[in-house]
Amino acid sequence: VSRYFDETALYWDQIYTGHKFVNWHLAHRRQLVTDAVRRLSQGRSLKILDLGSGTGVLTRDLLRMGHSVAALDCSATMVRTLLRNLQGLAAGRFLGATLGSAGEVCFQNGAFDLIICIGVIQYQPHPENIFDEIARLLKPGGACVFTVPNQLSLHHLLDPWCFLRYLYRLAAGERRNARVRPGSCHAAVDQSASSQDIYEKRYFRWEIPALVRNQPLAIRETIGFGYGPLTFVNKSFFPDRFSIALSQALARLSHLGALSGLSVLANRWVVVLEKPCAP
Ligand SMILES: C[S@@+](CC[C@H](N)C(=O)[O-])C[C@H]1O[C@@H](n2cnc3c(N)ncnc32)[C@H](O)[C@@H]1O
Repeated sequence: VSRYFDETALYWDQIYTGHKFVNWHLAHRRQLVTDAVRRLSQGRSLKILDLGSGTGVLTRDLLRMGHSVAALDCSATMVRTLLRNLQGLAAGRFLGATLGSAGEVCFQNGAFDLIICIGVIQYQPHPENIFDEIARLLKPGGACVFTVPNQLSLHHLLDPWCFLRYLYRLAAGERRNARVRPGSCHAAVDQSASSQDIYEKRYFRWEIPALVRNQPLAIRETIGFGYGPLTFVNKSFFPDRFSIALSQALARLSHLGALSGLSVLANRWVVVLEKPCAP
């Protein structure tokens, strides 16, 4: 995973800008995450961990919102880029960036009010290890916002190639993952696999509760977002502008009571977890 993200750091740094569907879609995710943090913080300044911070786009958003933020990432290139991107910003409230894998780095128990883990879980062969760590690091009453891609997305359902590729990767990926150490940064890809062959697990909505089954973490919200683009053999057959408009129209329909079921076909989920206060 760290090798793949080392090689693609520039791509991820620029993913939130541009006019393609993916840029619009991930900018939408960024907005939903910061909205969720705003709801959870209720005007307070929180101590936050950005777990899998990448180049620090969300770290910067959270600092600008007035929170204190620590960043953690397993890719050295990502951490270097983050430090460059954050230069001169909120020195007092930026708690530093750590190079390491979730589960390998020691922060104290209950160190954070909030943890965000955006675009990370799908690369983990043992995501439950990350949730063990999240549960440990959160204060009682703390919260976590994470995202996962949806296996039942409209995009995948309507493109047979995506579905076949999913089945292939599921089989190949699970064989690879079985050989590596749980919790390791290298866990999701075989050492010899090309970096583009990174295994990305998509989740059915009903699989989400199982991710936190063994933890004192309760799911408070699951928000589906993004529909499309419509593709055939992974090639979009509409211009990005059209796909964005179609996605916006479907999102509006999914907010109507009778059509709320549409959200099961969204591209991704934003999930909000809460760690209950101690009894
Ligand atoms: C798709 S990027 C998302 C970056 C950022 N969260 C965002 O939303 O812009 C995923 C990041 O998670 C990091 N990552 C993946 N698995 C990790 C792990 N087990 N521990 C720490 N970082 C991890 C990768 O290096 C990469 O920078």
